[in-house]
Amino acid sequence: MSDAYDAIVLGGGAAGLMCAATAGQRGRRAVVIDHADEVGKKILISGGGRCNFTNIGTVPERFLSANPHFARSAQSRYMPADFLALVERHGIAWHEKTLGQLFCDGSARQIVAMLLDECAAGGVDVACGEAIRAVDHGDGQYRVTVGARTLTAPVLVIATGGPSIPKMGASGFAYDLARHFGLKLIEPRPALVPLTLAGDDLLFRTLAGVAAEVVARCGTAAFREAALFTHRGLSGPAILQISSYWRRGEAVGIDFLPERTSGWLVAAKRAGPGSSLKRALGHSLPDRLATTLADQLSLPGELGNIPDRMLAAAEARLADWRFTPNGSEGFAKAEVTAGGIATAGLSSKTMEATNVPGLYAIGEAVDVTGWLGGYNFQWAWASGHAAGQAV
Ligand code: FDA
Repeated sequence: MSDAYDAIVLGGGAAGLMCAATAGQRGRRAVVIDHADEVGKKILISGGGRCNFTNIGTVPERFLSANPHFARSAQSRYMPADFLALVERHGIAWHEKTLGQLFCDGSARQIVAMLLDECAAGGVDVACGEAIRAVDHGDGQYRVTVGARTLTAPVLVIATGGPSIPKMGASGFAYDLARHFGLKLIEPRPALVPLTLAGDDLLFRTLAGVAAEVVARCGTAAFREAALFTHRGLSGPAILQISSYWRRGEAVGIDFLPERTSGWLVAAKRAGPGSSLKRALGHSLPDRLATTLADQLSLPGELGNIPDRMLAAAEARLADWRFTPNGSEGFAKAEVTAGGIATAGLSSKTMEATNVPGLYAIGEAVDVTGWLGGYNFQWAWASGHAAGQAV
């Protein structure tokens, strides 16, 4: 096997495999290199083993980036329907869950097998299980040393993802390479990650295991989904989503009763003056949560004896209960990494570095981060496809 290629793709995850398959099927000689013992490990564990492979609600507003417009071009040229068509061509059964999320009926392994079939159809070489020892560039060629081999190509694609979940082989290698080639970084931070509580909020940790549908807010972002109290703080989809927007020192506001309209507590007093705040809350919330919130609001006794203005204040607090997380569970638990290779130095059409000919960056390594629910894979497919079309 000759070690001269048209494109070397570093990282055999979602973006790298899509890029290599696309390039290979266009007649390019491509190779994928991954240090893990098999490709697509994050795909295998995604979506609880069923891979939430895209979201039919994909719109640019559901991605975070220092440049929110950057992802539009690639996304518009490779849409959820394109990936779905590929899934169907491979006979993979799928279903839609809530909020536009598409999952395999069977196993995430089918998605990895599909991507490997697509790579094989493009004659792509896949090399796993060996560390990349050196990467350099000169005379228009990139040279990558893996084990005893040195591969060369005029194109190098950085697709090694972000550092979230290091125990799965995730690394900050993409950032090392980016720095090496003079690309700027937007500070990477854990995203889609549980938040931790301290101080006065510690009380809520006693509610570990209790979940409720809430609206979680931070800045202008708001998500109505389940929140879950944990032994360390807050988790559940609403919290994971809001964590991507949260910055240290900021408060997260929780509306515990999103169904309730303004004035409901005073109305509850009129309808049942002999009832209590805890009982009124218990109609909508799990018992333990209703008890904790009622205790915190310190309005004991019958509703009939509590002045309307105090009930209105309690209602306002329940609609915007402020937690100030002292941190998050970090990269060890983060589903994705926000930040990364700055889009300002990349072409939004091809993903090629503006100042480094032949160098491309795709997927999670780049400063584009999707919401929870299949958006991050959709970005991996779209950016991988854009680069694969260009190399
Ligand atoms: P990805 O991380 O997939 O691939 C990078 C590859 O590079 C890996 O194969 C890695 O081994 C390799 N690599 C890293 N460092 C290297 C080095 N130094 N040398 C050589 N190779 C190296 N998203 C979604 O849309 N739907 C979902 O259901 C889920 N579910 C989910 C569950 C869990 C538990 C996690 C952690 C994440 C998700 N995600 C998700 C997010 C999704 O997995 C993620 O956004 C994509 O995998 C990113 O694709 P990339 O190809 O960019 O990186």
